Amino acid sequence: MEIRPYRQQQDFRAILDAQCDLYQINFPRFVCTPTFLADQAQRLRVAGRRPLENGIFVLDDNGVMAGFVWVAVRVDLQGSYGSVDQVYLKPTYRRRGYGAWLMEAADAFVKKQGLKVARLYVTRENADAVKLYQSRGYEVTRYEMERRL
Ligand SMILES: CC(C)(COP(=O)(O)OP(=O)(O)OC[C@H]1O[C@@H](n2cnc3c(N)ncnc32)[C@H](O)[C@@H]1OP(=O)(O)O)[C@@H](O)C(=O)NCCC(=O)NCCS
Repeated sequence: MEIRPYRQQQDFRAILDAQCDLYQINFPRFVCTPTFLADQAQRLRVAGRRPLENGIFVLDDNGVMAGFVWVAVRVDLQGSYGSVDQVYLKPTYRRRGYGAWLMEAADAFVKKQGLKVARLYVTRENADAVKLYQSRGYEVTRYEMERRL
């Protein structure tokens, strides 16, 4: 088992195949359409060509993609930061400590790019993810609120 940088040829399909599951877990009303997948494929193709702006790291189990993390360098009103856009483990690899390992790879990338802040969004109901992030030192800085009408 190792964590290594993303290889477009080898990992593209496996990461794309994880997209529906990843979004369905986090957005209960999300519908995974061919258009969504085409957009994600395009995003991934572009990211794969820009390794300085996109740290994508794969958890490799003897040639099988067990999970991955995708951090993008972004700029907003507060300056540059590392945005942990996606963290994903295939179901059989969850709750074994690999999530923390992927987050370490994300941290290392953010530091290597000279950035001081990592940020992410998570759905409150996604308890495993929230727990993982809190254990890694992430703190709540903003709330997204909604009300049913
Ligand atoms: C979110 C996600 C990446 C978290 O991964 P994870 O492997 O569960 O996270 P961790 O590595 O922190 O492991 C968590 C659990 O495994 C336990 N664990 C850690 N190391 C372990 C080890 N070596 N052996 C056994 N258990 C271990 C931890 O104690 C923890 O258990 P607890 O919650 O009962 O305390 C994973 O659940 C996932 O892929 N979810 C679907 C995609 C998703 O929602 N991504 C986040 C989008 S915001």
